[in-house]
Amino acid sequence: MAEELRINGGSKEEKYRELMPQVKAVVEGETDRIANMANVASMLHETFGFWWTGFYRVSPPTPEGELVLGPFQGPLACTRIKKGKGVCGTAWERGETVIVPDVDAFPGHIACSSLSRSEIVVPVWENGMVVAVLDIDSKELGTFDEVDKKYLEEIVSYFISKPSLHHR
Ligand code: SME
Repeated sequence: MAEELRINGGSKEEKYRELMPQVKAVVEGETDRIANMANVASMLHETFGFWWTGFYRVSPPTPEGELVLGPFQGPLACTRIKKGKGVCGTAWERGETVIVPDVDAFPGHIACSSLSRSEIVVPVWENGMVVAVLDIDSKELGTFDEVDKKYLEEIVSYFISKPSLHHR
């Protein structure tokens, strides 16, 4: 794997373009999903300077499970989120990426941190089920758009391309 993250690009798109092969190399070089989630959270957080970057895993991994806090970077966060609750539970329930330009305008937003102003949540799929979500929070309004959606959805797809994943 890469020894250290190297990002020189200026624009968001340039940064993602540089980041993607580095993320791919890291994830492809390791089968442990928790380790990969930890490194991906770190790489995204370091590249973009987000406020909070991390994963919630569906535990147990069934439709009756809850989202339980996984590897993350940033301040202390809520531990458990039920299906349909908050932005994370909504993305899980809908099975699609949710972009929230202003968290105060999202009914049911769970304010783990009062400093969070905008958010994106991307479901992680495996075998036709959402098994986790990638949640990113920003201290600025309107941070996330279709560019983030496109690249973050590609990043989480790296988690499911390997048949040998354990830690389900
Ligand atoms: N705001 C999220 C909760 C998780 S934290 O932001 C880390 C939500 O509404 O689901």
